[in-house]
Amino acid sequence: MSNPHESGYATPGNATQKSVTYAGYLRVDDLLKLQVPRSSPAEHDEMLFIVIHQVYELWFKCLLHELDKVCDDLRRGNLHGAMTTFKRGRTIMKTLVGQLDILETMTPMEFSSFRDRLESASGFQSAQFRELEFLLGYKRPEYLNYFEAGSSGAVALARRLRSPSVWDAFLDFLAKRGHPIPCAALERNPEAATEPDEQVQEILFKLYKAETELSLLFELMVDFDEGLQEWRYRHVKMVERTIGFKPGTGGSSGAEFLRRTLFRSVFPDLWAIRHRL
Ligand code: HEM
Repeated sequence: MSNPHESGYATPGNATQKSVTYAGYLRVDDLLKLQVPRSSPAEHDEMLFIVIHQVYELWFKCLLHELDKVCDDLRRGNLHGAMTTFKRGRTIMKTLVGQLDILETMTPMEFSSFRDRLESASGFQSAQFRELEFLLGYKRPEYLNYFEAGSSGAVALARRLRSPSVWDAFLDFLAKRGHPIPCAALERNPEAATEPDEQVQEILFKLYKAETELSLLFELMVDFDEGLQEWRYRHVKMVERTIGFKPGTGGSSGAEFLRRTLFRSVFPDLWAIRHRL
């Protein structure tokens, strides 16, 4: 190992200002300053609670990044790119679901020890989670009202509301490949939520049988959709076991409110035809 830079190793005590280091590249010092418990003296479990939420926000960021790429791939007719990226998205989604196991090691008493310190803060206010919903076509303009006007979350969400969703990009992709997607579906208002469409279902049904590659993309999309539903289900169960019937810190009825969000698919047309396949 004659040259430490070529080998990828920095020499201890010999790092110049210019050399890239693990800590510098990843901004580790900055990152590790961001976990600030509110309980005083700090309750042991609050650290886990903060870290896990921050990790979720990072994964949400990554998912938005990947799904933006899926839209680009679809617009460019890059089926392979869309498939590999959906595969990654699906795997991230599985990780998101799996992480709830860690939070479930926290007992109701342990959570109660610092819950008051959250005041009215809640995952309900996660702008990136709403961005994900909007990007996937679950558009609810009224959710903008939960974000302070002009805040970064409100600006990002308003942009997502106006932009075509993954589903819109997908229909556009199919139309460009010559499939007769109805004009009404292609020219729909991007601010409206995706609604099931029987004409689209008919086309998807035929494609499932006729085009193997496309059917693999459809399956990846169903995987992703199922993953999001799985996350919602696991989140509700975690909420039930941790706070029971208590209302949420965000002001909702808690588990009862969350139960209403279950089993809503983001790609309903792909689910509607499965009994025919
Ligand atoms: C002990 C752990 C947790 C509890 C007790 C909990 C509780 C709740 C409750 C009661 C709500 C309903 C809104 C409210 O009134 O606050 C909610 C919403 C939400 N939580 Fe959690 N949560 C926990 C962990 C997490 C984690 C780790 C995440 C990851 C980001 C998360 C993300 C969300 C999201 C995105 C919503 C909005 C869901 C929707 O509106 O469909 N939560 N949570």
